[in-house]
Amino acid sequence: MFSVVALPGDGIGPEVTSQAIRVLTAVSRQLNLEIGIQEALIGGAALDQAGTPLPETTLENCRNADAILLGAVGGYQWSDVEVALRPEQGLLGLRKALGLYANLRPVTVEAALADASPLRPERLEGVDVMVVRELTGGIYFGTRGRTSTDAFDTCEYSVAEIRRIARLAGKLAGKRRGRVTSVDKANVLDTSRLWRETVSGIFSDEFPDIELEHIYIDAAAMFLLSRPATFDVILADNMFGDILSDEASMLAGSLGLLPSASLSGGGPGLYEPIHGSAPDIAGKGIANPCGAILSVAMLLRHSMNQDAAAEAVEAAVSETLRAGLRTPDLAYGEQRDRTVGTEAFGDAVIDRLEKT
Ligand code: IPM
Ligand code: MG
Repeated sequence: MFSVVALPGDGIGPEVTSQAIRVLTAVSRQLNLEIGIQEALIGGAALDQAGTPLPETTLENCRNADAILLGAVGGYQWSDVEVALRPEQGLLGLRKALGLYANLRPVTVEAALADASPLRPERLEGVDVMVVRELTGGIYFGTRGRTSTDAFDTCEYSVAEIRRIARLAGKLAGKRRGRVTSVDKANVLDTSRLWRETVSGIFSDEFPDIELEHIYIDAAAMFLLSRPATFDVILADNMFGDILSDEASMLAGSLGLLPSASLSGGGPGLYEPIHGSAPDIAGKGIANPCGAILSVAMLLRHSMNQDAAAEAVEAAVSETLRAGLRTPDLAYGEQRDRTVGTEAFGDAVIDRLEKT
């Protein structure tokens, strides 16, 4: 049996995760696969119920699972909690403990949603980007400290950490359009200079046929809007990848649309929408479940080798959007009167899946 641990977490996490679980269950029925899904606590929900954002039992369950499906963590009510107990530490601790160093965030544009993006449709034509974000190093995990008048966070990277993520980006680019854009701030930061040198070395030694370019992060943020279709794989450190992937989501039309996969050298992968817990709309049943449902597609592809099933889930989401169903985050003007909720969107995706 294939075992999945579901970590719904906080805010809209439980709402979108329950749609993702329904989709995974529907796929498993169709394929006749036995998938066991077990829920566990993470984030603020875990802090409230178990006194820590990453309980030992959750970590143990995740280590023993074949894959992990996560919703979101965080919320206003925990903003004054001490740093080590913040809900976000649950997710960061899990990524670190499982060695999930590679975060893949695909960004594609559904033509039917072109009006949901702030960019002109002609700039969006052909957009197909894969952000490869380093996930267990950099400023997220460096030494930090503060007093009442000073604070510091340090960004550290080793050659080994940069090499493994660069390799993964190179391999992915080989299966895509053969282009990698590595982003850094090498005009200012030593970690970025090491990043640039190391990435160049890996590509000249191991991926001579992949076209590699280096761009400063500030310029990359601009080019992502001015010429998004020219990007194939974007390789970034932890912080730059976090920022650029939220920016890239607006090419697709909403942060709620994008899925992600976090992978290690072996062991379970973790799949989660790139959005956060959106406390402002939590509990209202209006969150966009696409990011969570498309994360199931990534789970099928990367952890189960079920490419056809992954494509079927992606096609079902795509068709649902093309049929005009939209959650409020995707609706503007008069469309606002015709939006659907999280569950109705999930129903529509499952209906289509069951017809394939
Ligand atoms: C993400 C989120 C997380 C991150 C937060 C919740 C810690 O923004 O997955 O992109 O910064 O990695
Ligand atoms: Mg983020």
